[in-house]
Amino acid sequence: MQKWFEEAKLGIFIHYGIYAVNGVSESWSFYNGRITYEEYMNQLQGFTASNYDADQWADLIEKSGARYAVLTTKHHDGVALWDTKYSDLNVVARTPAKRDLVKEYAEAMRKRGIRLGMYFSLIDWSHPDYPTVYEGGKEPENPAQANPYSSPAGGKQDEARWKRFLEFNNNQLQELMTNYGTVDLLWFDGDWERSAEQWNLPDFKTYLLSMNPNVIINSRLQGYGDYKTPEQGLPITRPAGPWEFCTTINSSWGYVPTDNKYKSLNQIIRMFCDCISMGGNMLLDIGPKEDGTLDPRQEQILLGLGDWIRTHEEAVYGTTEGIMNRYYLGGSTLSKDRKILYLFVYDDPKENICLKGLCNSIRKITVLHSGKELEHEIHGGVPWFDIPGTTWIYMSKEDTHDQVTVLKLELDGEIEMYGGSGAVVTHN
Ligand code: GLC
Repeated sequence: MQKWFEEAKLGIFIHYGIYAVNGVSESWSFYNGRITYEEYMNQLQGFTASNYDADQWADLIEKSGARYAVLTTKHHDGVALWDTKYSDLNVVARTPAKRDLVKEYAEAMRKRGIRLGMYFSLIDWSHPDYPTVYEGGKEPENPAQANPYSSPAGGKQDEARWKRFLEFNNNQLQELMTNYGTVDLLWFDGDWERSAEQWNLPDFKTYLLSMNPNVIINSRLQGYGDYKTPEQGLPITRPAGPWEFCTTINSSWGYVPTDNKYKSLNQIIRMFCDCISMGGNMLLDIGPKEDGTLDPRQEQILLGLGDWIRTHEEAVYGTTEGIMNRYYLGGSTLSKDRKILYLFVYDDPKENICLKGLCNSIRKITVLHSGKELEHEIHGGVPWFDIPGTTWIYMSKEDTHDQVTVLKLELDGEIEMYGGSGAVVTHN
């Protein structure tokens, strides 16, 4: 795992595609029969990218505090956002946009030092060679009911055509990985429709690494990736190893104008704090309109999150996961040297903030955004049994930040927490 990824904390996911023309759900709308394939593909005619300005995106992403971006270069619908020579189902050949959107995206991100991520759907529900085998090669009980976009028509599997499809994917990936400079991250999706063997893993991974040994690959690759990607629902138990939580701002990945179920800025910041408290990143999604501009509500969220991050930078970038909720009822992170504990205070405090189980003594407590120093007191504890007391930090509503308040606790050394069940004090 590359260090930059774990230190980045925030990435911006961009679901941009022809589905924004009618504001329908990305790819799934035809797959699930909500509209016909023809209706879906008619959106090609309306995809103009007329106001697409990758520099503006990059500017906004930079302001959001994100250190990487991930663009849907091809979703399950198979429509490539770049000038691929392996299929004419791409926005240069088939839409009024007539531009290589990936190229402009890659250049704009690189100019600003934003790490370059590319989402690539392994699934391609438009490619004639894709629906040629069943998942794991196993014929379903009722082949007639299998979805024709992913399963062989008439139930007859064709290994040779499936191989051809894999070659097609390999060729497109080679274009992405060699024509646009260094790709820092590959974000696969849709691995679930075929087995590891059918995706030709682990050879496929070796192939990708041969083009860039440093590329980070998400784990939607039948377990052969570098990090986990929980989606939409926050993990309660910390996922093992590096991870990234991807989430929408409203409830759609792409631009759906009828979807007004927006999360508030405060909710987004809290979700972000939850992720970094458990050592993860957040990949926050935006869904641009077909012309490449953004719904102002999405823009506002990115700007607001960026403001909050900038004010609290040292509690965010380069930190590691914090302490368990049993010690502190909120989120937290630790500085790399583990000598500073940052507590996220989500609510207005009732006279004080409570922290349990801390064995260190505290040198200083400050409210990060204002620099104000706070007093604290320790009650209880049995130092001669190494059982710490409870730390009460005196804080009032006036000390809080509009969104999430961060308290910086400078400790006398590397943090040490008590994990026992207490004891009878036999020596006083
Ligand atoms: C799901 C969906 C897809 C979306 C992705 C983002 O796997 O298939 O539509 O792009 O999640 O995480």
